[in-house]
Amino acid sequence: MRTVTLRHGGEMPRVGLGTWPMDDAEAETAVATAIAGGYRLIDTAENYGNEDGVGRGIRASGVARDQIFITTKLNKRWHGVDLVAEAVNRSADRLGVDYLDLILIHWPNPAQDRYVEAWQGLIALRDTGRVRAIGTSNFKPAHLRRLEKETGVLPEVNQIELSPFATRTASRSYHDENGIVTESWSPLGGSANRILRAPLIVELAARRDRSPAQIVLRWHLEIGAAPIPKSSNPERLAANLDVFDFALAPQEVAAISALDRGESTVVDSDSFGH
Ligand code: A2P
Repeated sequence: MRTVTLRHGGEMPRVGLGTWPMDDAEAETAVATAIAGGYRLIDTAENYGNEDGVGRGIRASGVARDQIFITTKLNKRWHGVDLVAEAVNRSADRLGVDYLDLILIHWPNPAQDRYVEAWQGLIALRDTGRVRAIGTSNFKPAHLRRLEKETGVLPEVNQIELSPFATRTASRSYHDENGIVTESWSPLGGSANRILRAPLIVELAARRDRSPAQIVLRWHLEIGAAPIPKSSNPERLAANLDVFDFALAPQEVAAISALDRGESTVVDSDSFGH
C-alpha cells in the first residue's frame, strides 16, 4: 500500500521527502524534482528554516495542492492552547498554502512542560479545518500516555528517529496498540550512512539487485513505518521512492531488526528539543 489511513480518515503517503538540512534554495529544487518524480508527501518544519523554499518547490512542480501531503512542525515557543494557531498561520504563510495536511509538535520539551497545552490547542485547530491531521514528533510512550490521560486524544502520527540501528520497539508497540502511525526520521541513519555499509544490508541489496538504501526503506515499510528519507540528488530521490515492487522475507526483516543498537543511540527527547 502506498498510503496509510490516519485515525480521522485522511490518507498519508507511506514514503515522503525529508527536507532537513536543506536551505530554501536546495529545498525548492529538491521538492520540485521529488514531486515531478512521484513524491506526494513533503516533510518540513519551522525549525528547518526552509518552508519558503518548500512552498516554492511545490508551486514549481505544477501538481495541484490537494494532491500533495504537507507536514510541518512547530517549535516550543508555541506550546500553548492559543499559541499553536499562530504557529500554524506563520507556517502556512511561509509555505503559501491555506491548510496543512499534518502539523506536529516537534519536540515535547518536558522541562518547559507545556506540550499538553499545545496538544489541546491542536485538537481545537483540527476542528477548524486549518490542519487536517495532528500529531507529535519525538514523543516517548510516557509523553503520549500523558496526552491520553489529560486530553483523551492521541496523535494520529508520531514521527520518531527510527532505523535498523535504532528500532524503537517500545515506541512502535505503543503506537501499534493505540492506532498511532509511526513515521521514521533519519530512516537511512543520516548522513554518516553507516547503515548502508552494514554487511547484511549490502548482501541483501546484492541478492535483490537493489541499493542498500532501498533495502532499508523497504524494511521500514515491512515493519509498518512511513519513512521520510532526505536526498537532494535526483537519482537517489527516484530510487528512494522505488520500493513498492519488492518485499523482504520475514526472516530478512528480523535479521535487519537485529542490527538494533538500542534506545541510547537516539536523540533523547527528555533532554533535547527546540
Ligand atoms: P544526498 O542528499 O546526497 O542523497 P536520512 O534520510 O536517514 O537522514 O539520510 C539522509 C542522508 O542519506 C543524506 O546524506 C543523503 O545524501 C543520503 N542518502 C539519501 N538517499 C540515499 C541513497 N539512496 N543512497 C545513499 N545515500 C542516500
